[in-house]
Amino acid sequence: MDILTSMLSEEAQEEPSEVIEVEGDIDPHFDIPNQGKILIISNDQSYLTHGIHKFPAKFFPELPRYLIRKYSNTCDIVLDPMCGSGTVVLEALLNKRVAIGIDIDPIARLITRAKTTPIDSDTLSFAVQALTTQIQELINSSNYRPSIPEFHYRDNWFRSFVLQELAIISESIEILLSRHIDQGEWRNIDDFFRVILSSIIRDVSNADPHCTRTVLRKNVVKTISPGDTYKKFAETLINHCASMSELLKISKTLDFCDVRLPIGNAIETGLDDDSIDLALTSPPYINAVDYPRTHQLEMYWLGLVGDGPLSNMKRKYIGTETVYKDEYSHLRTSGFDSLDPLLKKIYSRDPRRSYIVFKFFEDMKDQLMEMYRVLRPKSYYCVVIGNNVIRGNLVKSHQILTEIATSDDVGFKIEKSFFSGVIRHFIKIPRRERIAGEWVLVLRKP
Ligand SMILES: C[S@@+](CC[C@H](N)C(=O)[O-])C[C@H]1O[C@@H](n2cnc3c(N)ncnc32)[C@H](O)[C@@H]1O
Repeated sequence: MDILTSMLSEEAQEEPSEVIEVEGDIDPHFDIPNQGKILIISNDQSYLTHGIHKFPAKFFPELPRYLIRKYSNTCDIVLDPMCGSGTVVLEALLNKRVAIGIDIDPIARLITRAKTTPIDSDTLSFAVQALTTQIQELINSSNYRPSIPEFHYRDNWFRSFVLQELAIISESIEILLSRHIDQGEWRNIDDFFRVILSSIIRDVSNADPHCTRTVLRKNVVKTISPGDTYKKFAETLINHCASMSELLKISKTLDFCDVRLPIGNAIETGLDDDSIDLALTSPPYINAVDYPRTHQLEMYWLGLVGDGPLSNMKRKYIGTETVYKDEYSHLRTSGFDSLDPLLKKIYSRDPRRSYIVFKFFEDMKDQLMEMYRVLRPKSYYCVVIGNNVIRGNLVKSHQILTEIATSDDVGFKIEKSFFSGVIRHFIKIPRRERIAGEWVLVLRKP
């Protein structure tokens, strides 16, 4: 048995053996037992606008839907402080809650806005027609040279005709916005077009399509021909116009639609004390996804990288791997029994990694304190978190977070925790271990 398999078995031994299997929605009256294990077979990954853009570690809608229905009431205020692509925000909207989403990542914010803003179908059809005409006009003007953004290794990431085609689409979107700038709804249309553009960038680039990180591999050669980028954009646009029209139809049946997407940070939300009825999130995994790097091509194309290097941006993310050398020149400890022995073990092999783990939990402690501040007394904070392996050590993030959240410094009580599984179809390991998943911590402010 190799070390990873043995660790997965160690983790599997801790998981409850009884699995409650549910296809689709979970009835909110159903109480998942403490330490229970649920396996959700999702039907709704692309329901309405949920499928508008890929996003690493995105929720299946059924899990946040269940938690929203279980732990909040109609018209309550539901916050996702690390909302990613906005699954919780859309589900809160559909369940008639006031939905607040915060994310530090500009692509995440753009996707969440587009995903949760219904657009009138006639206006959207008119806009799509205008965009198609504009793109065609630029293609036809043979002398036209669109401006192509400059970024590192640009010509390795994209073939030259792809650069040209993406630039024509991007400029056409800009031209239409400048023409309609005084029409309020055009901002929403512009977001929608930009998300569709963003959603195809990875596919038409030379990056490995099978890897979450954005990487080039010598042995991965994609077949992309001239004209494919336009074709892909047009097809994706048509598909998502249909999703948008479904969202519009449903949103008209709701009594209200209140989505707020303030600029902020999960640690300093700027929200009032005791103002939130339910908080629900999935924080980044430690050491797993470097969001700015993953979205770098999309951010360059959409002009979302600020001045300065990407590393400045990366440092602000919880779970960042961009750390300074002097920060890990000595072993850092936290005072938490479930964390410190692990930090020591990792430090003996890799001081930098040990500091990354320390910093993740330190930031998560501040994040938990911020949620404690903004939540109304007696309300819940549901945190969905997976375990991972770092330098050969299994990091039981759910146990460590429980210890931190219930410490005197933070003050939550743990109501329950349960394991939410997903089936990994492609991994050939014994059945029980094939179910990977995440722990759901249900915390309550006293
Ligand atoms: C696992 S993803 C969330 C995915 C989301 N549940 C969904 O369904 O799409 C974690 C998110 O945390 C965000 N994040 C990391 N650090 C943050 C911070 N300091 N403030 C706000 N968001 C942060 C990342 O940008 C990323 O979008």
